[in-house]
Parts: sequence; C-alpha cells; structure tokens
Amino acid sequence: MDQIAYVNGSFVPLTEAKVSVLDRGFLFADGIYEVAAVLEGKLIDNASHLARLERSVGEIGLALPETVERIQEIQRELIARNHLVNGMVYLQATRGADSGRDFAFPKDVKPTLVMFTSVKDIVGAESAKTGIAVITVPDLRWVRRDIKSVALLAQVLAKQAAAEAGAGEAWMIEDGKVTEGGSSSAFILTKDDVLVTRQNSTAILPGCTRKAVVALAEERQLRVEERPFTVEEALAAKEAFVTSATVFVQAVVTIDGKPVANGKPGPMTDRLREIYIDFAKATAQ
Ligand code: PDD
Repeated sequence: MDQIAYVNGSFVPLTEAKVSVLDRGFLFADGIYEVAAVLEGKLIDNASHLARLERSVGEIGLALPETVERIQEIQRELIARNHLVNGMVYLQATRGADSGRDFAFPKDVKPTLVMFTSVKDIVGAESAKTGIAVITVPDLRWVRRDIKSVALLAQVLAKQAAAEAGAGEAWMIEDGKVTEGGSSSAFILTKDDVLVTRQNSTAILPGCTRKAVVALAEERQLRVEERPFTVEEALAAKEAFVTSATVFVQAVVTIDGKPVANGKPGPMTDRLREIYIDFAKATAQ
C-alpha cells in the first residue's frame, strides 16, 4: 500500500507528493525540519521536538502555516493513515514558493509544510546490540547549528564518508574538539564515571534526546559535565555513545578504526538506552 504524505493541507500518496521547483526549500534550503520517533504508534518526546521547531522557525523569521497543535494532529493522522507502529514522522516547513528566485523573503507567500512517515525498528535495531563505528571529519557547517535547518550538505558529505568507511556515524571536529555527530549528539563516559557531552550553544543542535538523557542520568545521580571533548579523550574513555530521535542511545565502539575501551557497547550505555526507552514508552503520546 502506498504511504500517505501531507503536503500543504492535503493527504496524498507519498509518490505523488510534490512541491514547486520555486520552493525556497529547494532553491535556498530556506526551511526547517524536525524528526520525531514513533514507538507502538505513539510520538516520542514530541513536545520537545515541537518546541525546537518553534524556536528554529523563530530564529529564521518563518511563520509556521499551522499551529503546533494542528501539526501534532497531522502527525497523528499520518501515523494512523500509514498504520505506523515503529518509525518516525518527518516534517519540513519552508518559506514557500515565490514567482521567481529572489533572495529576500517573499511577501504574501504561504510557507510550505510537508510531512511523511517512515518505518524503523529503533528499539530492536541490530546496531543497538553491536554498537557502531564512527569516523571523524572536519565540521564544515555554518555557524548557527542550533537551528534545525534543512541545509544539510556538510552532514550529507560527513555521513557519506562514514558510509564509505563502513561506519555508522561521523563525528565532526572543530578546533580539535568534537562538536556532534552528523545527525546525533555525542557523549563519552570518562574513567571517573563522568558523562561528558558538549554544552548547548550555536555550535551544535540542542538534541531533544540529549536533553532527556542528561536529565535521566542526573536523576540517577550520574555526574554530567557539559563541555567539549577531544577524540583522544573519547578513545581513553570507558564508553562512548550517540543520541538522536532515530537511534535513541547508540553505543560507539570504534573511532577512526581504534576501539573505545574493549570495542564493545559499554554497560552504562546499555543502561542509559534501557532507561531512555522506558522514559520514551512512559511519556509517549
Ligand atoms: N538529526 N545533532 C544533529 C546535527 C542532528 O541532526 C540531530 C538529529 C541530533 C539529535 O537530535 P534529536 O535527539 O533531537 O534527534 C543532533 C535527525 C534525527 C535527522 O537529521 O534525521
């Protein structure tokens, strides 16, 4: 059965879903996106994703064409129409299609809103058991990485390099420190059992999963330090992992071919993954 997508007020088969070639998302990457996980047909941590959506569109002066309440209804309707059990809902809002290609914001143009779902067994993923390899690449992105912009070319190149190296993620490096993964937040657990992840700033995306994992770890009296770390520190760490809506908590077992500790997912990573999945299920909507 054909998947159903949402495009500007209509539910249409995904293969027939279209926007104009003049859409500013296409011409200028003038748009914002969000990805929320779905477990057992329910949205995970969606309030956090919608809050970040509102913040991101605010930062680029883009008015959403629907309220966030309506967006949540559409997310739910897509889950229902696609009989989605486990996976995610993608949404993208752009500054719409003008009559030509002017850089400055168009007047009286309705923003575009596109949403679709995809299937993924995040909880049962094989890579959750094995962990993933990570490579490092220079962070080539612009300076407002706190905005969840659809301009993802640097991440596309980083993740392609990872794929070619047989790795599951690329850690991006700036000034000798890890900023984050191509599509995930980066964490290490030091030899002294301190959980380290870079502090939120314009240098990284404020990950929704990162935020929840930090809070869940602190509630359990784990020491958390929000600061940048180096690859050398990560290689000397007890454990390393990444977080995102599409993997939850995912062990990193090698970095540039060198093992992190014994090269297997660490016990704290496994525990935090379980804790996050419990939190996700308990708060799913
Ligand atoms: N990416 N950092 C970057 C650069 C990201 O693109 C993402 C998410 C994250 C993790 O954020 P969250 O925990 O809110 O998913 C961190 C999504 C999943 C994507 O681009 O597909």
